[in-house]
Amino acid sequence: MTDREKTLDIIFGRWRSQILYAGVKLGVFDCVNAVPKNVSEIAKQLNLDSSLAYRLFRALGSLGLLKEDANRNFSITAQGDLLRKDYPQTLRGIVLLEEGEEHYALWKHLPSMIMDGKQNAFLREYSKNIFEYADSNLAYREVFNQAMSSYSTIQTAWVLDALEGYDFSKIHHMCDVGGGQGHLLCSLLVKYPHLKGTVFELDTVIKNRELLWARKMGVEDRCTYVAGDMFDEVPAADAYIMKMILHDWSDEECVKILSNIYRQVYNVGTVFIAEHMVPGPEKPHFSKLFDIHMMCASSGRERTAEEYADLLNKAGWKYSKTLHSPSGLMGIVEGNK
Ligand SMILES: C[S@@+](CC[C@H](N)C(=O)[O-])C[C@H]1O[C@@H](n2cnc3c(N)ncnc32)[C@H](O)[C@@H]1O
Repeated sequence: MTDREKTLDIIFGRWRSQILYAGVKLGVFDCVNAVPKNVSEIAKQLNLDSSLAYRLFRALGSLGLLKEDANRNFSITAQGDLLRKDYPQTLRGIVLLEEGEEHYALWKHLPSMIMDGKQNAFLREYSKNIFEYADSNLAYREVFNQAMSSYSTIQTAWVLDALEGYDFSKIHHMCDVGGGQGHLLCSLLVKYPHLKGTVFELDTVIKNRELLWARKMGVEDRCTYVAGDMFDEVPAADAYIMKMILHDWSDEECVKILSNIYRQVYNVGTVFIAEHMVPGPEKPHFSKLFDIHMMCASSGRERTAEEYADLLNKAGWKYSKTLHSPSGLMGIVEGNK
């Protein structure tokens, strides 16, 4: 691609993700399958205007998510499959959250936040922070939790890869702080059968027991779900893990969370911080884009491994090391008591 083409490609990035969002939101990927189906039949099934739907499906075809034949019949592609509701590692939740109306609305505040030096797009738009908003808005909360499980199906593998070869024999009780519906913790319990675990979360996230991973993954006997607020107190354990938690919060808030954990940890005492680690200036990296999303959605930021080590030290921990997933997309900073 020429420089002009590359820049144009960036300009039109949002078109692609919004076309994709419309397909997911309207249920297209759950209706179209491997057997080609005519646009009129799909539109009827989904209650859509047939001629406008045709143009959307054609665009989805152009993105490689559907396949169109000469008679306006559409089938799903392998890439489109990833967006089906019943696909085992579906990406659907991520699309609904990140391109849905709430998050879409935040981006317009980006230039003014940077001019004003105030990182508060969620407050500007909704007069609440993201978790208060999720607490009071059931539809958003459901989409948020689906997205977290969706992210987790990808990120859990990165965490397990990064921790491959780590000596877990000294750890007996792992607590996942802000552990969502428990995908990561339960995966660790499956892999390390001597471990027991606690998922610590806001009550609203874990109160629908149907959605929790412990039963689905067969580790219910070793996994407990505890509701609470990590800014008050966390359950006692000899190791803690937090994935995509500290990036939601400012440095001061992170030190508070890490200090609360430090107060409760026993024995050797370990904390694992799993996040996208920002590399040096020479390297283009997804974390540098995710950081701008965090600027819009929260008081947090993406950080370098050194910045996480600094937060650990400020909360009383000793920085031990940073492990990286082979994908290079996730790092784990380890601290010890
Ligand atoms: C970005 S999500 C990450 C979830 C999960 N660790 C994962 O990686 O999929 C942040 C999580 O922190 C939880 N959370 C936010 N504030 C919290 C608090 N004060 N105490 C406990 N959990 C909290 C949210 O409910 C949410 O599930």
